[in-house]
Amino acid sequence: MMKIGIFDSGIGGLSVLHKALSAIPDAEFIYYADTENVPYGEKSREEIEQLSENVMQFLFTRDMEAIVVACNTATSVAIKKLRAEYALPIIGMEPAIKKARDEYPEGRTLVIATPVTVMGDKMRYLLEQVDSKHLVDLIATPKLVRYAEAGVFEDEEIKEYLLGQFKGLDLGIYSSLVLGCTHFNYFKTLLRSILPESVHFVDGVEGTVMQLMRKTGLDPEGVHRKRCAPTKKYMDRVSFFYSGWEALPEDLSKIECYFDKLDEVEKL
Ligand code: DGL
Repeated sequence: MMKIGIFDSGIGGLSVLHKALSAIPDAEFIYYADTENVPYGEKSREEIEQLSENVMQFLFTRDMEAIVVACNTATSVAIKKLRAEYALPIIGMEPAIKKARDEYPEGRTLVIATPVTVMGDKMRYLLEQVDSKHLVDLIATPKLVRYAEAGVFEDEEIKEYLLGQFKGLDLGIYSSLVLGCTHFNYFKTLLRSILPESVHFVDGVEGTVMQLMRKTGLDPEGVHRKRCAPTKKYMDRVSFFYSGWEALPEDLSKIECYFDKLDEVEKL
């Protein structure tokens, strides 16, 4: 059976695993959450590079067919170097701004991501390619990563935080919101209650899984039409590691709760 490694600073990349489990039914996965070092999005580039390298080393020695960096922040900083160092397919993630502009060209696009992703050269380069008309606005919302790690998605404090970050923006002029960090999918219910109906969510999860399939010789045709089956039933195909240690039973039950949340928000 093909083995695929997926890593993130924490539980954000579970959104990629969630999709990959139903899209690729005959693969086994290692999910690596670097929970001792989360959040990455507020660290220096050197630190993120080193941490990504450590995780890569761990996964590489376990005979993976491909590795997904299910973290926009680590991709932004480290993907080039990792690809140069390791001879296997490495799939990265970047905020799905191109997809947002292609699908919803009529209004502006708002992107939320970590500070490192927002400020990075990779973002500047991406905007040069896809935003020649300057229709994209970027906002860093790093606190969402901490809330997600604490398993809190919908309370008043988070709402206040988001309203504070969006202050001064006329939300009515946006046709899309790009979830530029894998930790942010959990907040779709709350975001839906804040944003006008006309704002559509766009994320890079599906595109990443399709790219993973292409790179491992699978046909991604039809994946975008397929709804994820409740993920819990797939848990036996995944080994979970938290910063190098096998996840404990209590960690696994928390992961099940995250999967429940992802099942719930998938169609928003
Ligand atoms: N989930 C990560 C991302 O997609 C970063 C979260 C963090 O550790 O700051 O950017």
